[in-house]
Amino acid sequence: MAVKDDLRTPIVCVMGHVDHGKTSLLDNIRGSAVVSGEAGAITQHIGATEVPIRSIVDKCGNPGLLDQFVVPGLLFIDTPGHHAFTTLRSRGGALADLAIVIVDINEGFKPQTIESLHILKQHKTPFVVVANKIDKIHGWNPQKDSPFMASYNKQSEHVRTSLDNKFYEVIGELYNHGFSSDRYDRVADFQHNIGVIPISAITGEGIPDLLMVLLGLAQRFLESNLHYDATGPGVGTVLEVKEERGLGTTIDLILYDGTLKKGDTIVVGSLDEPIQTKVRAVLKPRVLSEINVEDKFKQVSKVTAAIGVKISAPNLDGALSGGSVRVATPETLETVVEEVRSEVEAV
Ligand code: GTP
Ligand code: MG
Repeated sequence: MAVKDDLRTPIVCVMGHVDHGKTSLLDNIRGSAVVSGEAGAITQHIGATEVPIRSIVDKCGNPGLLDQFVVPGLLFIDTPGHHAFTTLRSRGGALADLAIVIVDINEGFKPQTIESLHILKQHKTPFVVVANKIDKIHGWNPQKDSPFMASYNKQSEHVRTSLDNKFYEVIGELYNHGFSSDRYDRVADFQHNIGVIPISAITGEGIPDLLMVLLGLAQRFLESNLHYDATGPGVGTVLEVKEERGLGTTIDLILYDGTLKKGDTIVVGSLDEPIQTKVRAVLKPRVLSEINVEDKFKQVSKVTAAIGVKISAPNLDGALSGGSVRVATPETLETVVEEVRSEVEAV
């Protein structure tokens, strides 16, 4: 097997309570330092990061696995945990093919943990739960970037018991909210049982296991949903409307189907009439970078789903976060305007 051209990158949404470690997890996967540069350590916007399959497989420490996977990589979307951002989170949940719900193992479930679970249940999105911050368990002996079991086996009996107790509290809380779950290595059927993975976003312990489980889920449950028509008209969702120096008003969007080109006519959701405009520039963040921190964009002539891109075009001022963006031709324009209008009403 090898990467198939007609499979798009699965979109993985990272959700959970404020400060439970969403950005740190992506940071670790990405190997950069978004957290340290963030104002007030609160993520104010949804960002996106594409991680190619090769980097994921390297991170799992087993390059031989490359042949086993057909997805081109994973596109991670970070969502803010603060309660004021419910709509943004809900939007992220609707967009996701897969999700990670992150919970601080030492704090347990909090309101936004529960809210995330409900959003995913409502959208029928497959997800895994990570029990984060295992390195904060008293007496923990960190094993940088180690698979979970290897690290677990190196802990003292006392520490292992402490982890087990906290871990089973998470399993119990999931049960109380109507989800049957178990430690990921004991889950045979991820469709009926939620896999829970103990990790540390700081030391990287358990992250190889998380990535393997995500890839497995993507392969097993999504392959049939990920076939797309790369040559079809681009379809996406606006994450953010942003003023950029030298570019005017731009939109950051996640393109989840088809192709978007410079010069394309696009229809963009707005609280007024849908906006009809022409793409002046398609600006791409570099692979392994974060839209929110990337200030030098690379102009490209076209992009294909799934990808997070910035679009510069005239008249974007009234564009609506969470609204759709659709490429139109003179023949389809009227229908597309109607589609975008009804999608905005549903936001
Ligand atoms: P919001 O975006 O504000 O919702 O928070 P978040 O979920 O993105 O949390 P973030 O990654 O910003 O982490 C919050 C704090 O917890 C930071 O100080 C991190 O360094 C710390 N942290 C995150 N994960 C871990 C972990 O695994 N171990 C330890 N010791 N600290 C962690
Ligand atoms: Mg964050």
